[in-house]
Amino acid sequence: MEKNVENRDQWGSRLGFILAAVGSAVGLGNIWRFPYMVYENGGGAFLLPYFFAVLTAGIPMLVLEMGLGHKMRGSAPLAFRKIKEKYETLGWWAVLVTAVVTVYYSVIVAWAVNYMVFAVKQSWGADPNAFFFKDYLGATGFWDFGSIKTNVLLGLAVVWGITYVILYNGIKEGIEKASKIFMPLLIVLLGVMVVRGVTLPGAIEGLNHFLEPDFSVLKDYNVWVSAYGQVFFTLSLGFGIMIAYSSYLPKKSDVVNNAFITAFANCGFSFLSGFAVFGILGYMAQAQGVPINEVASGGIGLAFIVFPKAINLLPGMNSFFGILFFMSLVVAGLSSIISLVEAFTSSIMDKFKMTRKKAVTVVSLGGFLCTIVFATGLGISILDLVDHFLNNYGLAVVGLAECIILGYLWKLTTVKEHVNQVSDFKVGNWWDISIKYITSIVLGYMLIMKVKTELT
Ligand code: PFF
Ligand code: NA
Repeated sequence: MEKNVENRDQWGSRLGFILAAVGSAVGLGNIWRFPYMVYENGGGAFLLPYFFAVLTAGIPMLVLEMGLGHKMRGSAPLAFRKIKEKYETLGWWAVLVTAVVTVYYSVIVAWAVNYMVFAVKQSWGADPNAFFFKDYLGATGFWDFGSIKTNVLLGLAVVWGITYVILYNGIKEGIEKASKIFMPLLIVLLGVMVVRGVTLPGAIEGLNHFLEPDFSVLKDYNVWVSAYGQVFFTLSLGFGIMIAYSSYLPKKSDVVNNAFITAFANCGFSFLSGFAVFGILGYMAQAQGVPINEVASGGIGLAFIVFPKAINLLPGMNSFFGILFFMSLVVAGLSSIISLVEAFTSSIMDKFKMTRKKAVTVVSLGGFLCTIVFATGLGISILDLVDHFLNNYGLAVVGLAECIILGYLWKLTTVKEHVNQVSDFKVGNWWDISIKYITSIVLGYMLIMKVKTELT
């Protein structure tokens, strides 16, 4: 390995970096957001705007963030500061967004940890809906601070404990090693779920509804905007994560190729999840004698209400598949949390010249304490607020500012020259066009529409 002049931590291998980047990208967004989004937005026809967004925004922005982190050798605030002092603020905005997603993510993964245990005996009983809202979260009222939910608290302790241990051990010994376990494990888990899903009676029906194309949606620009939004979220763009992760790459690293591999691997996981989820939903609809649209769902509803119902209905090995499903949420979620907390941690390390061990301890402890409030009856209401903030202002602001600063106020060619110098696969004019025009316009439009709906 080449000499590391600034004494910055470094990935041990290219594979390690890629697995970590894929680990960040692959998360709840792939498992519970993508399948339902496809289903709702024209089925197979949605793949057209989706791939268009991957090619014109996803990959170009990945190259941009990875190139920037690699060139500047710093997390988001430092990387932007090196462009111009006042841009540092943008980096901190990214860090703030990161902190918010982390809170959201860690609560959900804590729930998934709990549900993995519940799956053993299907403790959610015959009515998972009532179980989730009453028995499990048990909010007696909006301001119900009083009742701390021990299970949730334990789940949070597990999530933050694992994150702490992994990050404490650093890039190579911590994140890289964990990713080398998590990612293969996730492939196996999802692989088993897909095989189980598509071989169930009624699965074909589910998959038909998942992928049956309705090309008329292509006329609706909201569908295109949704595709761009999903691509940003799914590739962890606009959070400063890819900037931080790439700042630990060795000097000679094929940035462009890494970006392509990360994007395509992430798409692969999304498809796998789609087949598993809709295969099982198809079976569920058939078993209950209801149309697919009565069971099709995404997000919290899918994971903690619909899936427990589906697990109850499986023709055998219910506990096994139940555990597997929630374990895949946990593994996918944890590897994303690790990247989120690392982006936060490395920003603090860069800014305050803190040691990793100290920064990780402060951040993990703080994070854990901040999330405890979610173990109260208030949890789910705050989660909605967080979700709202995120989807509306989070990534779009950072993404747009990145495009404007790098595309217009600074020389985009600086990053381009850098990535083309270190990569075998070189980016051409499509890259500049994507960032300066396509992505900027779509994000700008997204933001304006959000603000508009907010004001009306
Ligand atoms: N990319 C993750 C997903 O698709 O679930 C979400 C995410 C993880 C976004 C980590 C941002 C991030 F930093
Ligand atoms: Na993703």
